[in-house]
Amino acid sequence: MAFPEAFLEELSARNDIVDVVSGYVRLTKRSGANQFGLCPFHSEKTPSFSVNPERQIFHCFGCGKGGGVIQFIMDIENLSYPDAVGFLARRAGLEVPDDGRDVNRGRRARMLELNREAARYFYRELIAPTGAAGQAYVARRGIVSMVKPFGLGYAPDRWDGLLEAMTAKGYTVPELIDAGLCRARNNGGAYDYFRNRLMFPVIDVRGSVIGFSGRILGDGEPKYLNSPDTLVYSKSKSVFALNLAKKSKSGYILLAEGNIDVVSLHQAGFDSAVASLGTSLTADQARLLARYTSQIVIAYDADAAGQKAAQRAITLLQPLEIGVRVLTIPDAKDPDEFIQTKGAEAFRTLIERSGNQIEYRLSQIENGFDLKTDEGRVGYLKEASRLIASLPSSVDREVYGMRAAERAGVSAEAVRGEVDRARNRFASNAKKQREREASAPLRAAQPQARELRFENVRSAVAEKGLVNLLYRFPERFTDAALSGSDFSSPALGRLYDAMKTRAREGQAVSVAALGESFTQEEMALLADIISRDETTPVAADAAIRDYIRVIQEEKNKAARQEDMNAYAASLKQRKGYGDKHGS
Ligand code: CTP
Ligand code: MN
Repeated sequence: MAFPEAFLEELSARNDIVDVVSGYVRLTKRSGANQFGLCPFHSEKTPSFSVNPERQIFHCFGCGKGGGVIQFIMDIENLSYPDAVGFLARRAGLEVPDDGRDVNRGRRARMLELNREAARYFYRELIAPTGAAGQAYVARRGIVSMVKPFGLGYAPDRWDGLLEAMTAKGYTVPELIDAGLCRARNNGGAYDYFRNRLMFPVIDVRGSVIGFSGRILGDGEPKYLNSPDTLVYSKSKSVFALNLAKKSKSGYILLAEGNIDVVSLHQAGFDSAVASLGTSLTADQARLLARYTSQIVIAYDADAAGQKAAQRAITLLQPLEIGVRVLTIPDAKDPDEFIQTKGAEAFRTLIERSGNQIEYRLSQIENGFDLKTDEGRVGYLKEASRLIASLPSSVDREVYGMRAAERAGVSAEAVRGEVDRARNRFASNAKKQREREASAPLRAAQPQARELRFENVRSAVAEKGLVNLLYRFPERFTDAALSGSDFSSPALGRLYDAMKTRAREGQAVSVAALGESFTQEEMALLADIISRDETTPVAADAAIRDYIRVIQEEKNKAARQEDMNAYAASLKQRKGYGDKHGS
């Protein structure tokens, strides 16, 4: 399906690729015009994923993926082209030119409106005189002053409180059911899903109410009811209270388990507390958090389940280059209880003293072994040394090496030896890897996609150079004599022609505009080409001449070769020439 070009241009202009990519990748390094981060499409330890703000493209020098912002969303969100366009349009608050495709757009907006009305209703019910039960519970938990900032509410102990209020506002029963606020009765009709509960609206970072959690007032089962996943709500992709925490100036996000913990933490002044909705963090939630912070302090419950969940969270957060610290909460089951019994200052001290992840991981390794046995000590030392060997700082290696030695009851020298051996192993593996990479320069010159393989590498290098310059300086190509059919690579030739035509007609030569007429592989090749800066503007004209000369030389060579072949073939026919001289 074709979108109007002006719309695609607007879409790309309003979705700056650095912003969009930053939602998924932490861009930590800058090199020339490019910003680099760890590639989200393949696993790597050093960043080879680049974004070029000026050209609005991304390109991974490792795996070869690349393209414009639409391609990025297609790849990372696993969306079709039109869906990726829709995704970006929503992100930028643009209307997709209507062809009836996004039938859900209206429904989504309406559901969000309904959710907001429902949140207002619950809030009013909490502060009304009839909300005494809810008020008493909020008071008992010591979170009265958080009612407003969190928009907490009370679902009254009735089967049709919300139902009545919302239908009076014009919402239909099917709409209430779709939003997960009501349940259908067998005989038709519906009833309120949340009854006699403290209501926590889940608000996304845009400020939309997307769902609810409702806690029972006191003991009882189920403790929580949650909105089901709906058109606007996906539990595994949302983080509770991120709408508030994202504004915090604390420099870190406090990740807790319970809604009550989060509210209680905010009440105590920790305004960066959030919770994953449910028990353990998901990869989507980790990525979402990574958009807003580079430091996470995990404050999960003290029980074994909480510690296991912390371990899992670390594994998810680490590849995103987020610093993770884990709190161990003494003498309390969770952050809320700790704050209620020991106070906010004590909690702050916990955060300040919180072991970094190395210490935490060392103690996790320790938990896996029985240090009273020789066998257990050997196993512990092996694993601990591997962890310590991976630390870049020699001071850290020394400090944690000593700690591990102490724990295992061996000498510091013994640990040092073990760590050195592990480091040598790492180093030799890395060297082998580099050698493998260095021995493949020709492969490196080839595009990632096999079907685009270059037949003539010398010409292809010039063709790529020309495409690069044409992209950057389209105005210098308006009367270039060369045509794409002179190219050795058909894909590059077609890219060149398309770009040149646009340049000549005064249209923008942008990835966004070209995206629709080329395959994903071709766009990746283009992104690869234009993510490199080989020539300065001053030298561009000379470079253009050189590239054109090389392409023509190679073309003539190829033509001569063909002539020779044809001549040889004809000779062979006429004179019955020997086989050896054929081609
Ligand atoms: N949870 C849930 N469904 C349940 C139990 C828990 O969805 N039946 C989720 C809720 O988001 C809850 C979190 O898991 O906030 C942690 O559970 P828990 O520690 O039991 O709840 P708290 O909110 O901490 O409540 P409290 O401090 O009163 O125990
Ligand atoms: Mn809890």
